[in-house]
Amino acid sequence: MNPKLAVPDAASLVLSLRSVGYSLETAIADIVDNSITAKASEIYIDANWNSEFSFISICDNGYGMNENDLHQAMKIGAKVPTDPRSNDDLGRFGMGLKTAAFSLCKRLTVMSKVSDKNMSNIRVWDIDNIVDSNRWELFDDSQTSAWRNATQRFKNHLQGTIVVLEKLDRLITEDYSDQAIGRFWQRIADMEKHLTMVFHRFLAGQTLRIFVNGKRIEPWDPFMRTSFATQEFREEFLTYQGKSVRVHTFILPHHSKLSMKEYDDTGGASGWQEQQGFYVYRNRRLIVPGTWFKMLRKNEPGQLARIQLDLTGDMDFDWKIDVKKSSASPPSILRENIRRIARTAQEASRKVYYFRGAVINQQIKAEDNDAVWEQASIRGRTFFRINRKHRLLEEACSGLGVDSKKKLDTFMSLIEGFAPMNASLTGPIFNETSQGNGLIDSAAHFCSDLIEAGYSPCEALRKVLQISIYEGMGEAIKDKLKL
Ligand SMILES: Nc1ncnc2c1ncn2[C@@H]1O[C@H](COP(=O)(O)OP(=O)(O)O)[C@@H](O)[C@H]1O
Ligand SMILES: [Mg+2]
Repeated sequence: MNPKLAVPDAASLVLSLRSVGYSLETAIADIVDNSITAKASEIYIDANWNSEFSFISICDNGYGMNENDLHQAMKIGAKVPTDPRSNDDLGRFGMGLKTAAFSLCKRLTVMSKVSDKNMSNIRVWDIDNIVDSNRWELFDDSQTSAWRNATQRFKNHLQGTIVVLEKLDRLITEDYSDQAIGRFWQRIADMEKHLTMVFHRFLAGQTLRIFVNGKRIEPWDPFMRTSFATQEFREEFLTYQGKSVRVHTFILPHHSKLSMKEYDDTGGASGWQEQQGFYVYRNRRLIVPGTWFKMLRKNEPGQLARIQLDLTGDMDFDWKIDVKKSSASPPSILRENIRRIARTAQEASRKVYYFRGAVINQQIKAEDNDAVWEQASIRGRTFFRINRKHRLLEEACSGLGVDSKKKLDTFMSLIEGFAPMNASLTGPIFNETSQGNGLIDSAAHFCSDLIEAGYSPCEALRKVLQISIYEGMGEAIKDKLKL
């Protein structure tokens, strides 16, 4: 056999690498990873708007690279993914710097220096040039005004690296109108928020400070560890093949225990419900902010459950960590344990979530009647109904006529019937006596209330039957109401 070389086409490869799927946030985080791995104590991220000459730079005071290392680092696939890495290395595939940069821009320039005794070295990829020449031509100097402007940040550094992204065609895709400028800065603000989350454990320590356009960013702790009302479970360790995954469950405080600001902040970038689940960290760097690994659904009562899950770099392949370091999936050997931990956390969250609003199996006294929800049970299952004796509700109703009162009551029954926490359990406004025929009577009664409130008989019946405890009662209701 005489194998022939089939060298990838530079132009088409570099263009396809642009679509790996990074967002601005994940791309910048990946470049910051390199600075952290290089033991930087300060990282400056600067965004500069100047229409087509805008740039973003990431400047660190880490250990830098000599000319050889820099040349190697700029290659696509700078390292072999399967090679072992040290425990504080946040890299893996030898691709991050290039693919992250190319997802945003067409010109990537890196300058690096290992000490004040050494010169800075520069390397530049320009996609326009790679496409035109169809060759991997790496330049060793840059003369653009954006580059000169960006390197101001680096001029006093004794050691470190600056990465400059120019020709930001993927970020600035439109005109240079005021709206486009506004969107650019909004995306920078979102990126900043992302960094406060992804690197929060580094930012909370003494060894790293990150600045975005000169402003130091603060860590965002998903677990509200400083709040006395956060419940913390005992840590547990899941072991497999001689490796050990650390798991630490937190149940966040009930919303009523938080100030408005704490509530908004802790909701994070995606909001309370989205941010529940496992927080997967790799070498202390957050890669997935809230997932149940498709084992459970994210639901409203589960929104207080957040679980720290710590992986190390030698687990990348077991957990299917992707190039962008933004997804993970547990190895099958751990799935049962993970599911158990997830269920326990969701259940604990549910209890806290409903506790403040509920009066459980308790006769309500008129004078301290401030609970919004009460619990009742039917067929041995618990469900929630609105406390009709709430002081504010009574006051509001006292000014209403009979007709309006009835409509309001019907509406509350609908709220109860379709309340997420009742979804699999119950229907509206019934108590222990509502069994058997009583249940059909109640369903028929509710249906006729809806009809009276303006629903067509068909719509009313459909609504009633969507409530789980009335399932299958269609014929009986029709019979009763002679529909
Ligand atoms: N800011 C930096 N400081 C020092 N070395 C760096 C820096 N950025 C990149 N490097 C070097 O370049 C290599 C390639 O980086 P990258 O493409 O992100 O892949 P990976 O991080 O997976 O190794 C890194 O392994 C590192 O040796
Ligand atoms: Mg990297």
